This record gives sequence, C-alpha cells and structure tokens, in this order.
Amino acid sequence: MKQLHKQSSIRRDEELPSSQKSPYSPKAFKPRSLPRSINYLFREQRLLFILVGVLIGSTFFILQPTLSRLGTADPSPTNRATIPRSYDQRRLDSAVYQSRSSAKLVGRVPVAIGRRRLRIVVTGGAGFVGSHLVDKIIDRGDEVIVIDNFFTGRKDNLVHQFSNPRFELIRHDVVEPILLEVDQIYHLACPASPVHYKYNPVKTIKTNVMGTLNMLGLAKRVGAKFLLTSTSEVYGDPLEHPQKETYWGNVNPIGERSCYDEGKRTAETLAMDYHRGAGVEVRIARIFNTYGPRMCLDDGRVVSNFVAQAIRKLPLTVYGDGKQTRSFQYVSDLVEGLVALMEGEHVGPFNLGNPGEFTMLELAEVVKETIDSSAAIEFRPNTADDPHKRKPDISKAKELLNWEPKVSLREGLPVMVSDFRNRILNEDEGKGL
Ligand SMILES: NC(=O)c1ccc[n+]([C@@H]2O[C@H](COP(=O)([O-])OP(=O)(O)OC[C@H]3O[C@@H](n4cnc5c(N)ncnc54)[C@H](O)[C@@H]3O)[C@@H](O)[C@H]2O)c1
Repeated sequence: MKQLHKQSSIRRDEELPSSQKSPYSPKAFKPRSLPRSINYLFREQRLLFILVGVLIGSTFFILQPTLSRLGTADPSPTNRATIPRSYDQRRLDSAVYQSRSSAKLVGRVPVAIGRRRLRIVVTGGAGFVGSHLVDKIIDRGDEVIVIDNFFTGRKDNLVHQFSNPRFELIRHDVVEPILLEVDQIYHLACPASPVHYKYNPVKTIKTNVMGTLNMLGLAKRVGAKFLLTSTSEVYGDPLEHPQKETYWGNVNPIGERSCYDEGKRTAETLAMDYHRGAGVEVRIARIFNTYGPRMCLDDGRVVSNFVAQAIRKLPLTVYGDGKQTRSFQYVSDLVEGLVALMEGEHVGPFNLGNPGEFTMLELAEVVKETIDSSAAIEFRPNTADDPHKRKPDISKAKELLNWEPKVSLREGLPVMVSDFRNRILNEDEGKGL
C-alpha cells in the first residue's frame, strides 16, 4: 500500500502544471535536470537530510565557543585561572599562547623566544644565594615571586628588581602555608650560617621541616617542579673523603648544629617521599661552601669573616689549628648548577661545590694577598662539631648535569671584596631597608 501510494504521488506531481501545485508543497528542485536517483533521494529522504543538517548545526554551535576562545582570549600566564592545573597542561596552554602571539607579532622578537615564560617561586630569595638566583631567572625572561621573612635576607639585595613587572616580593614565613599558581619552586628559605641557625634552633628545624612540607605541598597541589637546597652538612664530620652523594654521612643528631644538619636531612627525606609517594618532580642540591657579593657581613662563615676582618683592619680569626679544609665555590657557579639541576631530568642529590680544597690558613693567606698583606692571624678554640675536612666529589654533576665550577678563589674573591668594602664603608649599612 505504502509503495503504491508513493508511486501515485510521484505521478501526480509530474502531471500537474507548476502553477497548480499546492502553495505548501516544499520548494521544488529541478527534477528533470538531475539524474533520477538523486532526484529520488532529495524527495524521499528529506527526513534524513534534515537530521544531517541538525547534526552539522549542533556540532558547529558546540565547537564555536571553544574556537572563538582560542581565537581571541589571552591565556597568557598572567591571565590564567587560579584553578590548579598540571605542569603539562600549563605547558600546553602556553605553547598555544606562544605560537599565536608570535604569529600576531610579526617582526617583533618576543622575550624568551621559543619557550614560554615560567612563573617561579624562590623562597629565601632576599638572601645571599637566593638574590643571585632571582637575577639569573629574571635575566632569562621568566617571572619570579620571592617569599622571604627577612630573618637573614635584605631588601637591599633585590632593590634593583623592584621596578621590574616580572618581579614580586612577598613577606611570608614558609612555616605557614601559602597558595600560589607557579611552575617551579626553588626552596632556599633557611638561615645558612652557624651564627644564624644556632640563634633560634627550634625555629631553624621548624623552617627545615614545616617550611619544606608546606612548599612540597604547594608543588604537589599546583603540579610545580621543586628544588631543595640541601647542604654538605648532611655528611656531618665525614669519614669518606672527598664526599660522594652515595655517602650517608656522620652526623651528631643531638649536637648544636643538628637543627640545621638533621633539619636538612629531614628535608631531603620529605622531598624524596613526596617524589615517590605523590609523584612530585623534585630536585636535590647539596651545596658546599659558597661565597660572593651580598653575603651577610657578620654571619660567622669563614670567607665573609676573613674578608670583613681584613677590610676593618682586624686580625683574621682562625678556629682550631687552621688545618681543617673547606672548598669554596663562587656564587655564580652555584646558580648555574641550581638552574641546570632544575631544568635537567635527574632528581639527585647532586653535590654542587668547588673541589679545590684549602686549609683555613691557606684561605687566610689568599685573603691577605687580596686585601691587606699586613693583616694578623689570631687563633681561637674550635667550635663544637666543626668538620675536619670537606671536599665535594662532583663527578655525578659533571656527568649528568654537564656542570662544573669555573671561577677560581683568586678570581671570585676580589669581586666579593669590592662589594664588602662598599657596604662596610657605607654608613647606612644595616640601617637601610
Ligand atoms: N651559602 C652557602 O654556603 C650554603 C651552603 C649550603 C647550603 N646552603 C643553603 O642555601 C640556601 C640559601 O643560603 P644563603 O647562603 O643564601 O643563606 P641566607 O641566610 O643568606 O638566605 C636565606 C634566606 O632565607 C630567608 N628565610 C629564613 N628563614 C625563613 C622562613 N622561615 N621563611 C621565609 N624565609 C626565610 C632569610 O631571610 C634569607 O633571605 C639555604 O637553604 C642554605 O641552607 C647555602
């Protein structure tokens, strides 16, 4: 019946002159100019065509907002939503942003070309090492947020960055949690010299344990990479010389230095547990004695002590017999090593230090040569748990990070001396910001 009905309706259409057709009949195609089979499809499969049309239309309206957002909005790091997204998602967003902005800015050279701008936290960034690291990161075109409680850090170390829109400074104690949307965290916050870390040992261990926990928690939450600045002090008074990363150390857990030594050992443990347990991308640097401009003047570390004493025309104080050895790394070498570690693929720990080994008396001689050959040397009893020798084995960093220090003590010391001389002679030192 249905078939018959269809056939009869075809015939009727063909027979009627066009002027007599119903006004409600669909707009006629030109049936005679089309092949019969297409003609049939157009007329008999109208429902199918309508459905296909609806499908195409709805697909377009579903995709349209996404397409228009891609085309117009600015997903630059500064406009990002605060919803935590993974490190990889943010890299992808940014790759899109970079390629589109470079397409728009034909003829202009964007900052950090070929790589998106990262937002990086440096805890302890107002301190000696931190402030040099901040300069390095800003110079290469990335954004920095410094978190510091100014216990040993100074605004003076960062004042030259204050007008830079890619720089932010937050007064904050890492013992308290903080939430920031960032890509990388360099965790340096911790007093580093014996004078400062022994001043309030409970606060020092809290900074190392709770501060590191808070920063690892932040790294986990926002999917950031995390670098811990540990120390050669984790080797204690070493029974192995030079020290390799595989050496587990010889540390007094109840001594005056343990708030720092054991605090850093715990910080390393926490970093590894977050890495293994929560998949946080961590990096661990074990830093050996470092010197350079912006060190605290009177922090009890041997290089800053000798330099400040020689400039002030005071005798250089040598503790013990002066035969204990240390290695001294210039700060720019350390900063290069930290960045290489963060950007590399290896967790570590890595020794970052200069393997050149000096006794305290040899160091005193180099300082005298550089500042004042007539300076006297004064011997004092040694401090508790002072390691007898310290020298890094840096073969792991050489091989896996392609890093090694370049600046010798005789090259680096004069730069530090001129900074110290300016600050000591400047009456405002200590009264400033
Ligand atoms: N300089 C070295 O020779 C050396 C050697 C081994 C390890 N390290 C490590 O490198 C890092 C930096 O050392 P540095 O020599 O620059 O020391 P520093 O004392 O100059 O800097 C430490 C910074 O951390 C800040 N800080 C301390 N406690 C804080 C807290 N609770 N919250 C927020 N900020 C806090 C201080 O104000 C300061 O700005 C430290 O973690 C230190 O243990 C340094």
